[in-house]
Amino acid sequence: MLQSTVPRPSQDSAEGSARSDRALLAERYAAVRNTSMALTVGLAPEDQVIQTMPDVSPTKWHLAHTTWFLETFLLTPFAPGYEVFDPSFGYLFNSYYEAIGERHPRPARGLLSRPTVGEVGRYRAAVDEAMQAWLGGVDAPRFAAAAPILEIGLHHEQQHQELLLTDIKHVLAQNPVMPAYRAAAPAKRPQLGLDGWWDHEGGLVEIGHAGAGFAFDNESPRHRQYLPPFRLARRLVTAGQYLDFIRDGGYRRPELWLSDGWAAIKERGWAAPLYWIETEGGAYDLLTLNGRRPLDPSEPVVHVSFYEAEAFANWTGFRLPMEAEWEVVAAGRQVAGNFLDAGHYHPTGEGGHLYGDAWVWTRSAYQPYPGYRAAEGALGEYNGKFMSGQMVLRGGSCATPDGHVRATYRNFFPPDARWQFSGIRLAADV
Ligand SMILES: [Fe+2]
Repeated sequence: MLQSTVPRPSQDSAEGSARSDRALLAERYAAVRNTSMALTVGLAPEDQVIQTMPDVSPTKWHLAHTTWFLETFLLTPFAPGYEVFDPSFGYLFNSYYEAIGERHPRPARGLLSRPTVGEVGRYRAAVDEAMQAWLGGVDAPRFAAAAPILEIGLHHEQQHQELLLTDIKHVLAQNPVMPAYRAAAPAKRPQLGLDGWWDHEGGLVEIGHAGAGFAFDNESPRHRQYLPPFRLARRLVTAGQYLDFIRDGGYRRPELWLSDGWAAIKERGWAAPLYWIETEGGAYDLLTLNGRRPLDPSEPVVHVSFYEAEAFANWTGFRLPMEAEWEVVAAGRQVAGNFLDAGHYHPTGEGGHLYGDAWVWTRSAYQPYPGYRAAEGALGEYNGKFMSGQMVLRGGSCATPDGHVRATYRNFFPPDARWQFSGIRLAADV
């Protein structure tokens, strides 16, 4: 299921060490849970209940679902005598766990006026209180058995923090006055001197997670792959470069597109990335979490589908990277870049980092690594059952919480998804 950072106390381990593991986990628990609530500051209850498309969940739903996850997978099995906050929440806030039971249909999450935002807040507070009491009092064997699941619960909540932001962006973008989610922290202009490539000699490489530290099950087993020599762009593709593609007729030239991609842009009338609004003379405004503003040609392009990323790459004569190529370049590099905690809520292009700003579409289908087996039980449904029809994205974005991604981290979305902070990093054969 996962590799946990939490060591199992051995028989001769000091009671104190188990306590400190617990205290650390309790601290991280509080920090992650508080971050979710902090993201809702400034949102009215009216903002938090809207669902604008099946992929988007209301803010309120994210807050309740992550709480249901902890209640269902931690408190119910591991806290003796725990009684669920409200028995109906299992139906309302189960996302996709068939082993847990029936659930409210995903596209209808926006039809739930009850429980209210206030009731969901009380649900969170009650579960947090029970969790902290449990962490303070649970015996060592039970803690050792439950700690890996709590790790998943915290990483799961961080994934929903990113979704909460991309979903509220989609919600606010449907409003013609485009209310800003937040004012942005000031960003430096991209440094244009950082163009160029990271060269890699290729050969037999190893990718995937092994050893210490948390990772989701889809990052394992670590295994070998052969890569021909390649290069990976040091910078994300900019909005200005993407604008050149549009002006060169990129959306009107079928030879650049995958068949499914060409069908998608025809059917949906796409002629630019999501949240680009054409103004006068072929110029564009951009809808951001900080409100509407003119497009800055030097910022990274974002909110493109895999299809658009692939067509753009074809237009340039380069290509998208394979996930193994991205990972071997990332391995050993510091995980640094524009993440959620920087408070920009939008890519800045600052510093030419490999991480942050925008997830990059890879040319790799989301497949199990050789030897992968999903865990038994409900949590085995976390990743494995989605390994069909999706592409892998790497690197994290401006909406990814700090500390959540790593070199081996595999995000995945269907090739037509555009509402995530997904961008383009080119690769080339050498
Ligand atoms: Fe979830």
